[in-house]
Amino acid sequence: MSRIAYVNGHYVPHKHASVHIEDRGYQFGDGVYEVVLVLNRNLIDFEGHYNRLKRSLNEISLDLPISNTVIRQIFNRLVKSNLITNGIIYLQVTRGVADRAHQFPSDVPPAVVATAKSTSIPKTVDGKKAITTADQRWDRRDIKTIQLLPNCIAKQEAFKRDAFEAIMVMKDGTITEGASSNLWMVNKDNQLVTRQASNAILNGITKLSLTYIASTQQYTIVERPFTVDEAKAAKELFITSATAIVTPIIQLNNDLIADGNVGPVALALRSSYLEKTE
Ligand code: PDD
Repeated sequence: MSRIAYVNGHYVPHKHASVHIEDRGYQFGDGVYEVVLVLNRNLIDFEGHYNRLKRSLNEISLDLPISNTVIRQIFNRLVKSNLITNGIIYLQVTRGVADRAHQFPSDVPPAVVATAKSTSIPKTVDGKKAITTADQRWDRRDIKTIQLLPNCIAKQEAFKRDAFEAIMVMKDGTITEGASSNLWMVNKDNQLVTRQASNAILNGITKLSLTYIASTQQYTIVERPFTVDEAKAAKELFITSATAIVTPIIQLNNDLIADGNVGPVALALRSSYLEKTE
């Protein structure tokens, strides 16, 4: 079966899906995106992703004249036509095609593309290694922009060091988040600690959902920045995102987290998230 992509109102074979070379996303990284998890053919946390998309668009003054309902229809059609049971939808909105000039063009329609991909979503998952690296991004990490070069450099460093994720650290010594995920720890007081929403991080939709799920269970959630030393001293460390869901981190650089085994909290939260969203 050939994959189908959505490009500006059309459903086209994935291998022929394209935008013009003067698309501002291509030339300036002038656009935003979302990644939505699909479980059992259902779009997970769609409203949260849609609301964050609208926020990102608003923050970069990009007007997108399509509704929540239309985007949902596009996603559902991609799920169907690509025979996705479990997987992800990628949506990208750029400021469109215009002669290259830094200032925003007027009267240019945004370019909207979306792709779908099958992935396996196991109920449990092995613990992974992460590394720490300097956070070299701009000051508006709350916007889900397609300008991901610092994230790609960080992830490449992780890849070269056989790690699953790069944990990014600010100049003040606090962790912001992973290159493509949010970071959480279970501290010695059994509190769930994750950094609060601000311009310093992307406010993850999985994080928001899990915060709600955890708050209805026995957990105490504390939203604050924490350091690499605190992370290394944690009982458990894990990352969350639409693709990682909840993935335990059992090693940070050369240090094992606790005894180096996957902890019960990460696994319980992963199960709760998968159950809730089923
Ligand atoms: N990334 N922080 C960053 C920098 C991210 O890129 C992501 C997600 C998250 C988690 O957000 P959410 O829970 O809404 O997925 C946090 C996606 C998965 C990606 O770029 O592929």
